[in-house]
Amino acid sequence: MDKIVIEGGERLVGDVEISGAKNAALPLLAASILAEGTTVFENVPTLEDIRTTRKLLSNLGATVEADEKKHSVSVDASKLISHEAPYELVKTMRASSLVLGPLLARLGKARVSLPGGCAIGARPINLHLMALEKMGAEIKIEHGYVEAKAKKLRGAKIYFDIVTVTGTENIMMAASLAEGTTVLENAACEPEVVDTANLLNRMGAKIRGAGTDVITIEGVSSLKPVSYRVMPDRIETGTFMIASALTRGNIKIKDCIEEHSMALIIKLREAGVEIKVEGDGIRVIGHRRIKSVDVKTLPYPGFATDMQAQMMVLMTLGDGLSVISETVFENRFMHVSELQRMGADIRVDGHSALVKGVPYLSGAPVMATDLRASASLILAGLAAEGTTEVSRVYHLDRGYERIEEKLSRLGAKIKRVGT
Ligand code: EPZ
Repeated sequence: MDKIVIEGGERLVGDVEISGAKNAALPLLAASILAEGTTVFENVPTLEDIRTTRKLLSNLGATVEADEKKHSVSVDASKLISHEAPYELVKTMRASSLVLGPLLARLGKARVSLPGGCAIGARPINLHLMALEKMGAEIKIEHGYVEAKAKKLRGAKIYFDIVTVTGTENIMMAASLAEGTTVLENAACEPEVVDTANLLNRMGAKIRGAGTDVITIEGVSSLKPVSYRVMPDRIETGTFMIASALTRGNIKIKDCIEEHSMALIIKLREAGVEIKVEGDGIRVIGHRRIKSVDVKTLPYPGFATDMQAQMMVLMTLGDGLSVISETVFENRFMHVSELQRMGADIRVDGHSALVKGVPYLSGAPVMATDLRASASLILAGLAAEGTTEVSRVYHLDRGYERIEEKLSRLGAKIKRVGT
């Protein structure tokens, strides 16, 4: 298995281009099931999760063609031969459950393995199922699978008890081909939800309110295939912002959308990081010792849970105390014990971590448990004295496209080694 080896202490300087967003590309690819014809996607990141989704769509009978160098994927879903997302795929990528709504809407049936536990918490899909039941689906859980049937889904009024990103996307996709109007209350406002709604509307859906917490979907009888460009990845953007702040660097982040990273930008400015919006990107300059700030994760537009681990690394080098509260997932502090091995002073109490800044981190062999935890360890390695070896790199490959190459071009001493 590959490892990433980093010699810390280099100042990162230069330009970096941000890839397409993983968490937008996944629902967008799933939405292609709804159209009888070939949907073409541009700016698709080259990632393991995308390969898994391609495999999932091929298993359903779609003809999937990808050019990873050109970042394009086309999906011809004219003929589907299966309605199943098998355990083998769902266990490697929970977002496979995004095909549930589209399959049910297009074929009237879906058999999707129920995702099990996950490194960051329980992550059930009960709200997706509740919404589909309200829309007239008959749902059973059998042999670890969700078995869903509906001759024709009907529009319904749905209230989500908890804001759910993929839940909102799944139901928006299903409701696009339902009979009548669906209203989603307490819907997720994430930019990836908006990107999904934009694609669906291009395909002929009638969705209003995406980006707010009430989304209205008027069902239509069919959707047509289109070409669509995936939005930039705001979490990759944020990860490079923190890389610059941590290394007292000067990085211009290109092909990103400032508005999508507003909570992070405001927090980084509070922490003393200089951030300037330039014509074609955002320049992030780390001048001095970081000021400790408190952070609480929340659904968008709040501070993204997917940036919590990276922000925590920054706070380990802060000038005082920082309280980091995780309110979205129940167990997203798995990176803490690895950061402690690098000399960080962190105490976890329930959903909060108390981070006391230390003057430096020291390189160590570390191991990641999930995607963003891996990113945080890479960041810690960039700032640390000495050598850091991050193992279980497959987590990183699920969500960051060639991160070691991008960092290396900015001056980092980083390499991937096969073991
Ligand atoms: C999406 O996951 C993202 N994944 C996650 O990105 C991200 O961390 C998360 O949203 C929150 O922003 C994709 O978009 C593919 P949720 P999702 O449903 O949709 C609870 C990354 O690193 N909940 O919004 O699965 C749930 O347990 C990842 O790229 C229920 O209780 O997250 C959690 O506490 C990881 N029942 C909260 O809601 C449900 O039916 C939010 O989860 C659904 C969710």
